[in-house]
Amino acid sequence: MPIKVVVAKDAKEMSKKAAAVIAEVVRKRPHCVLGFATGSTPEGTYAELARMNKEEGLSFARVTTFNLDEYLGLDGDHDQSYRYFMNKNLFEKIDIRLWNTFVPLGVAADPGVGCIAYEQYIKAAGGVDLWLLGIGNNGHIAFNEPGSAPDSRTRIVALDKSTIEANSRFFKSADEVPRYALSAGIGTIKEARKIVLLASGPKKANAVKAAVEGPVTIECPASLLQDHPDTTFIVDAEAASKLSGEK
Ligand code: PGA
Repeated sequence: MPIKVVVAKDAKEMSKKAAAVIAEVVRKRPHCVLGFATGSTPEGTYAELARMNKEEGLSFARVTTFNLDEYLGLDGDHDQSYRYFMNKNLFEKIDIRLWNTFVPLGVAADPGVGCIAYEQYIKAAGGVDLWLLGIGNNGHIAFNEPGSAPDSRTRIVALDKSTIEANSRFFKSADEVPRYALSAGIGTIKEARKIVLLASGPKKANAVKAAVEGPVTIECPASLLQDHPDTTFIVDAEAASKLSGEK
């Protein structure tokens, strides 16, 4: 199935559309399994889900969640860890039970074994109904950098130089950005029954174009979603600006 593309006029509309898709899954299946992502792009979606929880009675009480990735070496109370991000931006604002939320463990006696366990937890939960993704300027999904295998599973990965630079905005300097992370693999992500990828702003336009209209190649990890049966990109007008509509 080609990737479906929904173009929103701006990031606000993109966030509302994404939250509506997630809410529909939760309403249909209150005990669903959701996959989440961190980064600047999904923040508006999480804010909208929190609003729906508060004002519209959208309950996450029976939902289980898995996050894509975590920095190796950062504990969940580090303010740049993805566990911390999820707690602050979403989990503390909704009625989800924290013990039903999973983020790869950045600090563990053996993080590699933790990656294997993470895959098993996902299986034990019944697989992911919907996984929300962002996209890197280099086309990465989660921390699957260009060159990642299409059948990769949760593992320890080295971050691309461009990713370290892009993420240094959250740290005092690029030197402080961890060099390694734990990341769900492309194979892990593609087992989700539904995938929704968000992109906003002009910096993402090339990656969106390559992912949707370019060849299927490990050089652009998001292009590997082209043969997934149910993937939708919800992008704002700037991120969509290089799409030709052909493919
Ligand atoms: P961003 O990150 O949402 O902060 O742009 C996306 C990503 O790197 O996957």
